[in-house]
Amino acid sequence: MVLRAAHQLIDDSPRILDDPVAVQLLDPETRQRISLPGSRVATAEARTLRAHVVIRSRFAEDCLADAAGRGVQQYLLLGAGYDTFAYRQPAWAHSLRIFEVDHPASQDAKRKRLEQCSIAIPTNLTYAPIDFEVDTLAAGLARAGFDPQLPTFVSCLGVLMYLTQQAAYSVFDFVHTLTPASEIVATFHSVRRDAPTTDSPLGQSAGAAGEPWLSHFDPF
Ligand SMILES: C[S@@+](CC[C@H](N)C(=O)[O-])C[C@H]1O[C@@H](n2cnc3c(N)ncnc32)[C@H](O)[C@@H]1O
Repeated sequence: MVLRAAHQLIDDSPRILDDPVAVQLLDPETRQRISLPGSRVATAEARTLRAHVVIRSRFAEDCLADAAGRGVQQYLLLGAGYDTFAYRQPAWAHSLRIFEVDHPASQDAKRKRLEQCSIAIPTNLTYAPIDFEVDTLAAGLARAGFDPQLPTFVSCLGVLMYLTQQAAYSVFDFVHTLTPASEIVATFHSVRRDAPTTDSPLGQSAGAAGEPWLSHFDPF
């Protein structure tokens, strides 16, 4: 949330992603702190990470727009986190059914924050609380009213590395069951099969913060 908001507040125009809702979600103190010279988000590492976060969302949303033009009817955000697409959706997205899937605790925190900030829940959005390590996507989404027969665009951004390899494969197994016009945009921690599986600096700091990266995939 902070990185997305910082992109709006301190990065040059034109922005990679226009996201006024990310700023709305911030508390006033954090908003002020971001804009101070020498703030934590001004470092080279923070800028690199921020670029990654906004580029992956921009890429997914551009692909979604193309997919909607081809007739996709559902948008499934896996591990939605503080993604704000649903709350700032353009007119072309109003006909989509949008499903935000997330760990129940994360989703609960987001919904509370949205309420505190008086951000309206769009009528085409449904929340599906699912722990990928415990529940299956098929069962959790069926409870939420997701229709696996409708062509669906799936995004899974910044999520797979936090899952065990088995849960990560289950995500792809589920997407594979969707109707053929469906597609997925995903990011993953990439480790070449012939390279030692040393962690990246980002992975190491995630581990130190208590959110270790558990899965990786070979890029080839
Ligand atoms: C780094 S955030 C990414 C959020 C968003 N997709 C984005 O691009 O900014 C990772 C998300 O993965 C979710 N996640 C991690 N482990 C999960 C699990 N076992 N089940 C469901 N969601 C999980 C977290 O709740 C969090 O929302």
